[in-house]
Amino acid sequence: MTPEIEAPIAIVVMGDVMVDYQYDIATFPISGQDAAILSARATLGGSAANAALGLSHLGVPTAFATRVGTDSLGRKVLEALQSTSLNLETVQFGQQTGYTITFIEASSERTMFSFRGCGADPFDLTPALESELRRARLLLLSGYSLLQQEQAASVLRAATLFKQSGGQVALDPSPMINHIDPSLRAVMLGLTDILLPNRSEAEALVGPGSVEAQLHRLTELAPCAVIKQGSQGASALTRPGWSSASSESQSAPSILHAPALPVKSVDTTGAGDAFNAGFLAALARGENLSQCLQAGNALAAQVVVVRGGSTLYLPGLDFGIL
Ligand SMILES: Nc1ncnc2c1ncn2[C@@H]1O[C@H](COP(=O)(O)OP(=O)(O)OP(=O)(O)O)[C@@H](O)[C@H]1O
Ligand SMILES: [Mg+2]
Repeated sequence: MTPEIEAPIAIVVMGDVMVDYQYDIATFPISGQDAAILSARATLGGSAANAALGLSHLGVPTAFATRVGTDSLGRKVLEALQSTSLNLETVQFGQQTGYTITFIEASSERTMFSFRGCGADPFDLTPALESELRRARLLLLSGYSLLQQEQAASVLRAATLFKQSGGQVALDPSPMINHIDPSLRAVMLGLTDILLPNRSEAEALVGPGSVEAQLHRLTELAPCAVIKQGSQGASALTRPGWSSASSESQSAPSILHAPALPVKSVDTTGAGDAFNAGFLAALARGENLSQCLQAGNALAAQVVVVRGGSTLYLPGLDFGIL
C-alpha cells in the first residue's frame, strides 16, 4: 500500500501591511524645534506582513489577507509581495497604503507615527478569502485589526467561519490590546486557541506576576499560551488535553521554556512577528510545543541581527523616503 501523502498544513494571516520609514536622529526635539535626519531607510512592515513573510520564507503555504492601496506606494508593496511565494488571492484593495514613520534616537529610543490608510478598512468576505479560510488549519490574527469597530467585526466574522471548519486561531494581542473594545476583545479571546503576547501584553491581559503565574492565568483565556520574553526567549503552557491542528495532545502539560539564541541584536523590529511565524510553522509541521518555541526563537534571532523587520525575507527593497 502506498503511504498517503499529507497535504501541508495551510495558514491564513490576516492583517496589516505598511511601509516603515525609519529616520535616525540624535535626540527627539521638543515640540516646535528642528532636528537633523542623520540617515534614513524604508522597508516593508506591518505585524501581519512580517509574520506572513516569515511563514512563506519557511516554506509554509500561506495566504495573506490584507488591504493594499491602489496608490503608487501600494503598487510597490504589491510588487514586493509578488516576489515571494505568498498566496495573494486574498489581497484586497483600498485607497491609500498605510505607513509608519519612526524616529530612532542615538539612545535607540523609538517614536512612531502611523497612518493606517486602507489598512483600517473592514475586510470583505470574498469567495477567495472564504475558500482559503475553509482550507487552512491555522489563522493568525493581530490585535491591531481589532481597533476599529467595523474592521474588528469583519475579522471576527472571518474567525468564526474559520473555526466552523475546525481550524485553530492564533492571536498576537499587540501593544494595543487594552485599547480594544472590551466586548470585542472578549469575543476574540473566546475564538482564540493560541495566544502569543510579549511580557507587557501578558501583563495587560492578566495583570502582573511571574511568567509562570501569567501563563497559568493566560490558559484560562486560551488553551495554549505563549509568552515572548525578548532576549530571554519564550515560555508556553497548554490546558490539559490540548492538541494542535496537526499533532496529538501532550498528556501532562507543564511550563516549557526555550532560551533565545545568543546573538548580537541590532534591531528588534519584527522580532515578535518572526517568533509567531517560526512557532506556527513548526506547529504546522506537527512538531511538539518545545520544538515550536525553539523554532520561534530561531527565526526571531535571524531577524534581530539585521535592520528592518522584513529585511531577512525581502532584502534590497527600495520604497524611497517620504
Ligand atoms: N536580544 C535578543 N536576542 C535574541 N533573540 C531575541 C532578542 N530579542 C528578541 N528576541 C527573540 O524575539 C522574540 C520576540 O521578542 P519580544 O519578546 O521582544 O517580542 P515583541 O515585543 O512582541 O516583539 P515586537 O516588538 O517585534 O512585537 C523573543 O521571544 C526571542 O526569540
Ligand atoms: Mg509583538
